Amino acid sequence: MASAPSLTEAALRRALLEREAAGLRRLRRLVDGPQGPEVVVEGRRLLAFCSNDYLGLAADPRLAEAAARALRRHGTGSGASHLVSGHMRPHHELEEALADFTGRARALVFSTGYMANLGVVGALAGRGDTVVEDRLNHASLLDAARLAGARLRRYPHADAAAAARLLARAQGRRLLVTDGVFSMDGDVAPLAALAETARAHGAWLVVDDAHGLGVVGPGGRGSLEAAGLDAAAAPVLVGTLGKAFGTFGAFVAGSEALVETLIQQARSYIYTTALPPAVAEAAREAVRIAAAEPWRRERLRGLVARFRAGAAALGLPLAPSGTPIQPLIVGEAEAAVRLSRALEARGIWVPAIRPPTVPPGRARLRITLSAAHDEAHVARLLEALAEAWRGCGGG
Ligand SMILES: Cc1ncc(COP(=O)(O)O)c(C=O)c1O
Repeated sequence: MASAPSLTEAALRRALLEREAAGLRRLRRLVDGPQGPEVVVEGRRLLAFCSNDYLGLAADPRLAEAAARALRRHGTGSGASHLVSGHMRPHHELEEALADFTGRARALVFSTGYMANLGVVGALAGRGDTVVEDRLNHASLLDAARLAGARLRRYPHADAAAAARLLARAQGRRLLVTDGVFSMDGDVAPLAALAETARAHGAWLVVDDAHGLGVVGPGGRGSLEAAGLDAAAAPVLVGTLGKAFGTFGAFVAGSEALVETLIQQARSYIYTTALPPAVAEAAREAVRIAAAEPWRRERLRGLVARFRAGAAALGLPLAPSGTPIQPLIVGEAEAAVRLSRALEARGIWVPAIRPPTVPPGRARLRITLSAAHDEAHVARLLEALAEAWRGCGGG
């Protein structure tokens, strides 16, 4: 009988070496100074195309000033969870601003998007219920269904007809769950078809628009706004504050009954300390700016169009995406790492995204654009990509 693998230091080291050999070891790079188009990475200034700071707000002095004022007024810590004594005025005002921004009755602030997804799925589904999800949904949405103890059924990417077939066989309460903008692909879910599918099968549609809010849609209200869908079509909207809103945290927006249910039942809301109040104040300033400065979205759209036209002229196989997430699919993990290194040698920072974050054979450079970039930055990126792609055997 084979002996059970034992947990030893040597076994951990061996597994790490195997990862390394397969080009799958994940490394953290040390950044000095603020986020922005140029960042200092381990002492070297690089032009970065990898953050989710789509509107260029992460280092905006108005957010820092809002946080500084709140630090002086409210201190650093919230001291407790929301349900004990940690629900402070900055959290409450942020929730009101988010409800207003998303056009929903209420919003509830969570500490992270990961926790918002665990909380909302766990509060709405459990044993005996069915959660139907896109195969490429964010890991937190897939983990949420597993942790809830619900039946998790996954459909091929963006295939609303397949989702309908799974819902037709579903038992218990039904949730249909999708990213709005897919985090590693940049494409937008077929939301109108999914909303119709959910309606036809008595399911609730949950849309995690972490990468769409602030960016997509004429007013930046996200992929639901772009699809012309209201709260009746998609009763649960999840958003994050650490991406376009340049700060940290997340929220669920929806009806009065939904938010009150989450306050009673979302374990990742109940059993954790509330956000630092200064972060909530900075996020509220970001929401105000996202609504008041549409030029940021216009500039971003111009940069995306300029990048795609340049990449097409170079014959680069970009995935179809109209959002600031512009993946260049490379294939094998080692090849993606080589291309990323070749870009870095030319002063450009785009880390390789490898399995299990993306499916095997679909390793990529996830290139992201920001309103903080300008045309000259995009031109530098294209020039470096042209050389690095040829040097790595592409094209
Ligand atoms: C679609 C999606 N949902 C949720 C999250 C998690 O958000 P957070 O970073 O706030 O935990 C992310 C990325 O981080 C994401 O891409």
